[in-house]
Amino acid sequence: MVPRDEVVERKFERLRALIRQLALAWPLVGLPGALAGCSCPDADTVYLLREPDETTRMLLEACEDPARHDCMPLCEHLAGRADAGASDREPITHCELHASNDGYTEVHVSWHQVCIGGRRPEGLVLATAGAAGAGALFAEVAQLELASVPAFERLARELRAHGAPASLPAEALRARADERRHARVVGALARRFGARVPRAGVPEQDVRALEAVAIDNAVEGCVREAYGALVATHQARRATDPAVRRAMAAIAADETRHAALSYAVDEWVRCRLGAAARRRVMEARRAACDALAGDVEQTTPLATASLAGLPDATVARRLVEAVGQLAAEAA
Ligand SMILES: [Fe+2]
Ligand SMILES: [Fe+2]
Repeated sequence: MVPRDEVVERKFERLRALIRQLALAWPLVGLPGALAGCSCPDADTVYLLREPDETTRMLLEACEDPARHDCMPLCEHLAGRADAGASDREPITHCELHASNDGYTEVHVSWHQVCIGGRRPEGLVLATAGAAGAGALFAEVAQLELASVPAFERLARELRAHGAPASLPAEALRARADERRHARVVGALARRFGARVPRAGVPEQDVRALEAVAIDNAVEGCVREAYGALVATHQARRATDPAVRRAMAAIAADETRHAALSYAVDEWVRCRLGAAARRRVMEARRAACDALAGDVEQTTPLATASLAGLPDATVARRLVEAVGQLAAEAA
């Protein structure tokens, strides 16, 4: 049994303290609304129109009229967004009608959806869950959790190949086991909300040069897993669904440890790189923070975000700032 790495332990305590500190500030920031992390396939909702009311009927006519074919107002109306300011709402990406043989009309609405997840392996291709709402969200997150398994496997292999202290690849393999557990737990949530969990495609992965390892760790670990740990902690406190709160409480502790491992790897690897390579690692980390700041401007439908306890855009921005500060401190 390889002992826990002291540096990882110290960083874990530091991150845990930071996350607690942020958690105390969150009640001041308002209701959870939406979240982000990485782009996922769109989520679909199907509305069945049997006996539409007057407004819906008029909008339906505008959509069905071949001369106008103006369907978006109908989708906005059905999604309850017609009177809401569009700027703070999730964009509808697709809206179309399907006439049914049973005398009703189906309206298919696709939302742009964003979700969090752990460390993504290079070349990851997410599959579409074929569900809507919370089911789609958890199905995408479960895919990302499972995709983190080969990412940690590769990290462990690369750390060993580059001569890292044994405790670091051992921590990476523990994280791999955590991610398998997360995928099972989140997959069960997806199924509970009616979604199946498709398997994401992950290509074969070789051992990379040390600089590439450092850049990937900075982006996927120091930035994304740290952000994932903060979001999971938020979800553990704010999800309206008790099963989600329980699941996220366990996942948050693991993700905090994964972020701590990333910072320990970062410290080890940067000492072995030249000045130019170190600069490139820092630039990649800064760019990842900027990209994350852009991602959190995307939103998830309010009902799903509340159920899952996702932070709204204001809280999400603060969390990204915290990740940026953490990264700057470590540089
Ligand atoms: Fe993780
Ligand atoms: Fe995870």
